[in-house]
Amino acid sequence: MQIDRRAFLATLGTAAAINAMSSEALADALEQHAAQKLDAETTTNELKMRRGAGSLFGAPGPLNDPTELKKLESMPDKPTLVDFFQYRFAPATHVLQSATDAMRKGEKEEMVLACLIHDTVQNLIKVDHGWWGAQMYEPYVSEKVSWGLRYHQALRFYADPSVGYEYPELYNRIYGKDYVPPAYIKRAYEYARNHKSYMDARMITVHDLYAFDPTMKVSLDPFIDIIGRHFKQPKEGLGYDNSPVAHMWRTMIFPNNPL
Ligand SMILES: [Fe+2]
Ligand SMILES: [Fe+2]
Repeated sequence: MQIDRRAFLATLGTAAAINAMSSEALADALEQHAAQKLDAETTTNELKMRRGAGSLFGAPGPLNDPTELKKLESMPDKPTLVDFFQYRFAPATHVLQSATDAMRKGEKEEMVLACLIHDTVQNLIKVDHGWWGAQMYEPYVSEKVSWGLRYHQALRFYADPSVGYEYPELYNRIYGKDYVPPAYIKRAYEYARNHKSYMDARMITVHDLYAFDPTMKVSLDPFIDIIGRHFKQPKEGLGYDNSPVAHMWRTMIFPNNPL
């Protein structure tokens, strides 16, 4: 740990006060200063290590776009979903790849939209992103889409050979080969598995491409019309429509505002 001598001396007061201190008192003060600095550094490092925070807050993690903090540009007064893609979710490679795959394979437009937005809430928070994502999008998409978002998180851990979904090799690397999902994930899977909307969530996992394919050129352009047809953009702008989830969008507009 580096101690800044000037900064340390400044904590002690005037030059006269420092001169009046015994060498023992100075040594004690130095030790206390070092301990406080170490505490501060440890706290900062621990905070950086909370991997469940969203990418906008600097959390690293798999499927993340660049791990350094995104440069924050101010957003338009009435932000649309497209604005969020441009100003807060970009480059959004993973979800664009998923949506591109869904579109190429001829999925219905609502499924393409679901793939396009399925992990975008990870910019806000990564913990239980299926549930958070479903909640954040619920007022603006059909029930099929929000239901799919909610349960794709649990379904990822369970294979379904009928649609060619295998347990992702990536998870063996992330979670270890012997990983058993928590009981609440297993319950959510079993509930979803027997639900009439099962495929609305399952197909999101089928198009959830974990390996970055450098030959796949992705852009939001092919999806603008689908967003227009299936996303109920509030006229006041996301974050300002007084919906029960407006604060979640505002948090992404202003991730640097405490309180
Ligand atoms: Fe996901
Ligand atoms: Fe995903």
